Amino acid sequence: MKKIVMGYITDSKIPISEDKKFFKIANKMNVELLPFNISSEIVQKEIEEKAKKCDIIFNDSGFILAEEIVKTLEILGKKVTEPSKIYEFPEDKWLFFIQCAKNNIPTPITILLSLDLNSVKNQLNNFNHWPVVLKRVNGERGEFVEKANNMNEAIRIIKHFWKKGNERLPIIAQEFIDSDSYRVTVIDGKIIQTALKKKVGWKATGCYAQKFRHFKVDDDLKNIVEKLVKITKINVCGIDLVKKDSKWLALEINAEPSLKMFDCEHDKLIECVIKSLKKQVY
Ligand SMILES: Nc1ncnc2c1ncn2[C@@H]1O[C@H](COP(=O)(O)OP(=O)(O)O)[C@@H](O)[C@H]1O
Ligand SMILES: [Mg+2]
Repeated sequence: MKKIVMGYITDSKIPISEDKKFFKIANKMNVELLPFNISSEIVQKEIEEKAKKCDIIFNDSGFILAEEIVKTLEILGKKVTEPSKIYEFPEDKWLFFIQCAKNNIPTPITILLSLDLNSVKNQLNNFNHWPVVLKRVNGERGEFVEKANNMNEAIRIIKHFWKKGNERLPIIAQEFIDSDSYRVTVIDGKIIQTALKKKVGWKATGCYAQKFRHFKVDDDLKNIVEKLVKITKINVCGIDLVKKDSKWLALEINAEPSLKMFDCEHDKLIECVIKSLKKQVY
């Protein structure tokens, strides 16, 4: 069988354990890995030459620059996992909420805020869920997610998001759920890993959570995951959820999920990713 050539978009300046593991496991699985490293100099000719050799490309970077490379490779006629269209939806948190509402997937109650602060005050008064969680429609690792206990705090947070992000990007307001955070990593529709992120402070995400452990998957969760994968069509994803009165609520779906939440399962997850990409080539 012809050896598959797989592009691999990475942002690590020096090869970290994830890159090394990818190369080792790909080799074992008879797959040649061609890196596109966005942290080194980007040379158009080089990208074009490498792209010609690839059967498929996996994006392992959540950096915004990786989006440009994904789109570049798509214009060059290449299949990239995940495709660039996911940046518009489902990674946009408002559009994710709307899709969930349309498909009866439970989520925290959410509204899209105006860009005018006087209108925002009216909206939050009418919404009347305090404390309220404010989130930029795009963001990751909890960087643009804050909790406001009252109107003054909400306005301060919104101004801070706009200043920090250098532009007035849309923000959602969401009912606050007092819960730990639950992450499922899903590959080709199957839950491959679960991670219960205990909160430190009120957020339980990436660098805020310190200890993870597995949790039990029940039928309601399976049903939510199944629906979300069908709607979003993301092959390799992480889904964040919270629990309210022991019922699941979906928070968001992410492509390029962390594969290394549990050291001892890192290799297994990389293997599943490569298997999924191989399937897409044949
Ligand atoms: N509505 C909410 N109620 C309570 N906690 C929340 C809510 N939304 C987010 N969080 C907390 O903040 C974390 C980050 O929010 P999330 O929507 O996943 O954004 P990000 O893309 O930044 O990870 C979540 O994992 C959860 O711990
Ligand atoms: Mg998250």
